[in-house]
Formats: sequence, C-alpha cells, structure tokens
Amino acid sequence: MARSVPIPDGNKVFVLTGAGVSAESGIRTFRDANGLWEEHRVEDVASPEGFAKDPELVWRFYGQRRAQALTVKPNPGHHALAALEARLGDDFLLCTQNVDALHEAAGSTRVIHMHGELMKTRCSDPACGTAPFHDERHDFGELPRCSCGALQRPHIVWFGEIPFEMHRIKRVVQACDVFVCVGSSGVVYPAAGLVREMTYRRSVGETVRTVYVGVESPDNADAFDEVVIGKAGETLPGLFAR
Ligand code: APR
Repeated sequence: MARSVPIPDGNKVFVLTGAGVSAESGIRTFRDANGLWEEHRVEDVASPEGFAKDPELVWRFYGQRRAQALTVKPNPGHHALAALEARLGDDFLLCTQNVDALHEAAGSTRVIHMHGELMKTRCSDPACGTAPFHDERHDFGELPRCSCGALQRPHIVWFGEIPFEMHRIKRVVQACDVFVCVGSSGVVYPAAGLVREMTYRRSVGETVRTVYVGVESPDNADAFDEVVIGKAGETLPGLFAR
C-alpha cells in the first residue's frame, strides 16, 4: 500500500536532502558501495589542508564533478519536492547538502546549499572579499587565480569548515511543524544533528513531526517518528497528502 505523510496547507515544512535524492539522476553518493569516498581520501580532495597541499588534484576532482553535473537531470524526487514548495510557498524551505543544482533545475526556489555549490568558484584568500561567482569551467590548464593573485577554489564546504547559513537554517527548523529528511546517511554534522532540534522541541511540549525517506535507515534514525524505506524518485511523488 502506498505510504502517505499528511501535510495540511499552512504547515511549515523544513526539508533536508542528501546525496540519495540525486542518486537516481546518476550522481554518486558518498558512502554507499561504489561511493565517491571509496575512491578518494576525503582529506586529500575535500579539506582546506588538501587544497593547500595539492590544489591541482582538488581542481581535477571538482572538474570531473562539474563535467558530470552538466549531463544530469532532476528525477521525480526533485520534482515532488518542487511541487510541495509550489503548494506551501513561504511555509517551505529546502536545505540541501548537495552541491549539484538539481533542486533548482526541478523548479525549487527556496533552497539553501549548506555545503556550497559545485558550479561556483571563489577566492581562496578569506581576506580578499570578492564574491563567489558562477563557473562551469572543468578543464584547467593553469589553475584559476583571483585578481588579487591568490588561487581560486571551489565554493564547497570542506571537512573542517562551517556550513553556510547555519543561523537561518536553525531559525527555520525551530519554527517548522514538519521536518523531512531525504537520502542522507546521517553521519555528517552539523546537518545530521538538525533533527535533534525537533526532539528537543517535542520534549518541551511542542507538536512536531519528523520523517526520513531513503533506501536504508540512516545513522540518526532514532530521531525520526517515521522512516519510509524506498528510493526518493519512487517514494516522494504522491507521499505528501493534504
Ligand atoms: N533514494 C533515497 N536514498 C538513497 C538513494 C535513493 N535512490 N540512494 C542512496 N540513498 C541513501 C543511502 O542509503 C544513504 O543513506 O542516501 C544516503 C547517502 O548518504 P551519503 O553518501 O553519506 O551522503 P550524505 O548523507 O548526503 O553526505 C553528507 O557528507 O561527504 C560529505 O559533504 C558531503 O554533503 C555530503 C555530506
């Protein structure tokens, strides 16, 4: 029987997505069998220290990711979340850990990329102050440099760095009625800890609901009222009823 998660109009909904929502579009997840982190040492390609040591390797890694991102399309899971936003409007916020732009490609507009954006580049010198910019380059002869002389880097939140917009994210989680997480293994913090805010709110008497959707139970499954096992692209369409 098809599952249904009722979300009446007027409910405030916060959605957190992870790599699983893009898996059916052909983007590899990080920690599954054949995941990205099986092939690479995370600290080499996704840390400030790795970039300082070997920026060419890091740019090659993200260049491959960019080249692939130009070939993929949103799947029915992305479209279902865009449809939920179209119904709820400002009562909806989508926070993604994904650096691809598939949510936007599906029509989502209220999106926070807490771990950055693959198709953006910024100066590696924090003191420089130039804004990150859209950049689809993926095949570098010489490594890209800022006008200030410093190397440019991918606009990605690496291990050891603080995710973007945490203040706004927490404010929205603290005010939402329903917290939905899709396709995230629940091992990378602070994203994996956001659902605990809902546990706290319930403990002080607030009425809140938490739902996880993914192909397997995440590490933080105990924090969810409901764990719906299934692929995002097959489960999300039709999941959210009025
Ligand atoms: N539909 C739903 N869930 C899926 C699907 C699918 N089709 N395919 C895989 N999954 C699930 C996996 O079972 C797994 O639990 O998606 C989850 C992906 O987990 P991870 O690979 O750990 O990705 P994520 O949780 O997004 O990683 C968080 O870690 O490496 C960093 O910065 C990177 O943003 C990333 C963060």
